[in-house]
Amino acid sequence: MLQKGLESKLNLFNRAGVTIILLMIRAMISSKLKRQCFSFYFYLFLFSDNCVMYRLPKLIAFPHRRPDEYYKDLQERPGWKDLDGEVVMDVGCGSGRYSTINILKYYPKIEKLIAIDNYTPSIYFASTRNTESKIEYRLADIEDRSTLEKWEGKISKIFSTNCFTHVDPEKAFRNVHYLLKPGGEAIITFVSKSQYYDIFLDVILRKEFKEYSAPIATYPRALRQKLDASDYETFLKKSGLTKIVCEDERQLFFHENIECCFMAIRHCNLASDVPRIRRDEFDQDFSQEFLRRIEPDPDDGRFYVKFTVVKIIAKKEN
Ligand SMILES: C[S@@+](CC[C@H](N)C(=O)[O-])C[C@H]1O[C@@H](n2cnc3c(N)ncnc32)[C@H](O)[C@@H]1O
Repeated sequence: MLQKGLESKLNLFNRAGVTIILLMIRAMISSKLKRQCFSFYFYLFLFSDNCVMYRLPKLIAFPHRRPDEYYKDLQERPGWKDLDGEVVMDVGCGSGRYSTINILKYYPKIEKLIAIDNYTPSIYFASTRNTESKIEYRLADIEDRSTLEKWEGKISKIFSTNCFTHVDPEKAFRNVHYLLKPGGEAIITFVSKSQYYDIFLDVILRKEFKEYSAPIATYPRALRQKLDASDYETFLKKSGLTKIVCEDERQLFFHENIECCFMAIRHCNLASDVPRIRRDEFDQDFSQEFLRRIEPDPDDGRFYVKFTVVKIIAKKEN
């Protein structure tokens, strides 16, 4: 009953999305303005299931390697070959489309895949769009043990991509430890540093914009804390997990040209508190700072933005 109600709400949501897209196409054709063209892509994005995944400004914590790229090498590791008959979990599954579905692609022999997220629309979306008989989507918070009780000590492998950027690592690692069976392991990867965020921070904290910097408190925790793999190793130890791998991985994301950079940056609406009347001034300062730090590559003319991804494989001892 509840599920049916949700499905009809989502269908309504999608129909509204299609109507808006058609209106945007009309506006785009009639005005031919680049800005509106950009808005069109924005709305297209908004009404795809990506919007459910990325509640927070997406680009500042952008994952450059897709979740499945981490799963490929994983099968070479002892204990990770086919996970035949195992009950596994995807923490922070989002829409299910990227991590959950891919886990099942690499590990079709698992018995059950519990995919959790603490954001209700993600779970609704995932359970209507990316379903498979072995997947069980559930609303739960990796920071809050009371929401995880029914799986404590029952999970043999935990996967998590691009979720730990948002959480308190001490609480989350402790709960990973609670969830795992003795001998169980977890693979956790997430963006811990982003050049977009650093540039943005530099500009918004200047005295002329500082009064608009309050939303920083809502940005992904890992980016604000700027911790290294060595810090995460300490949290792992405190939680009782044994480190197998804990390393920083440098990644680059590129834009073909400077227009693409700025379209993308405006897209993530980082400076939401800057009033409209001062937006151009902010954008200009941001652009200058961006160009001061990121020069086009002499060989291909592209703009490469740096990110750090932490990759962790940890074990709960027997
Ligand atoms: C960027 S999405 C990643 C989705 C997917 N795992 C992937 O790799 O594409 C991050 C997800 O983590 C979820 N998340 C954030 N904090 C969480 C928490 N404390 N417990 C569970 N999920 C959380 C968010 O709601 C969001 O859906």
